[in-house]
Amino acid sequence: MSPRPIAEAGIVGPPGASNCQRAERTAAGGARALEPLRAEGLCKWYPSGGERLMVFEHLELYVEPGEMVAVVGESGSGKSSLLHVLSGLDRPSAGDVYFGQRSLRGLDDDELAVFRNREIGFVWQFHYLLPEFTAQENVMMPLLAAGAGASDAAHRAQEWLAEVGLADRAQHRGGELSGGEQQRVSLARALVAQPRWLMADEPTGNLDEATGGRIFSLLARLHREHHLSSILVTHNPAIARGCDRVLRLHAGALGPAA
Ligand SMILES: Nc1ncnc2c1ncn2[C@@H]1O[C@H](COP(=O)(O)OP(=O)(O)O)[C@@H](O)[C@H]1O
Ligand SMILES: [Mg+2]
Repeated sequence: MSPRPIAEAGIVGPPGASNCQRAERTAAGGARALEPLRAEGLCKWYPSGGERLMVFEHLELYVEPGEMVAVVGESGSGKSSLLHVLSGLDRPSAGDVYFGQRSLRGLDDDELAVFRNREIGFVWQFHYLLPEFTAQENVMMPLLAAGAGASDAAHRAQEWLAEVGLADRAQHRGGELSGGEQQRVSLARALVAQPRWLMADEPTGNLDEATGGRIFSLLARLHREHHLSSILVTHNPAIARGCDRVLRLHAGALGPAA
């Protein structure tokens, strides 16, 4: 696969995308600007037997604040790799990702970890709840890691469990919940620290269709009501159609889905 020139690849952005920044009111009452995400010349390759396994090359992407973008593509096309690079979980091989004016490349590993914890909530195909801990304790984890006191964290976790429809499951252990309930808890855990971005990698991939549909409806409502910007990797065409925009990763390039 030969690299495509950036001008030819074009910036994959929403129609009429602008750099305008909207403001959101935080719980503390201060204004918090909502920032776009911009990826420039993004490349990812992995070392493979002395060679490079090229996953994607020269990707350009613009996600407007408040947008919910779906990324689809065949298994192995690089969707997870892309999401990891966009959210600062992994470094790109070349290129950079900007949240507003902030360059991820400009952050060292500690700064990047702080950025992720503050700004990004993650949901995965597998919930990764700690099975021996209660739903409430699982949701408290990001707050405790950020230095919140135990009673404040417990209170906020309970509010978020109510938000995802699980107020009455707070004391159930992670391992005692159904797949759909576990994914609701992982949504609460992703959002309890009030990130501005929600990054979800096949969040319904492990659920039956009806449960997956309900999880997506919940995710879409939380996206809207909490003024999030979201990128959602999915295999499910119905879920992709429910997003504002659908992009397809294919043969190392990102473009609008047909
Ligand atoms: N850490 C890694 N080291 C080496 N190769 C990897 C690594 N992660 C993913 N890959 C390879 O990169 C390609 C894209 O993987 P991935 O991003 O997981 O795709 P998708 O999420 O679309 O299924 C695959 O060929 C996969 O084997
Ligand atoms: Mg994947």
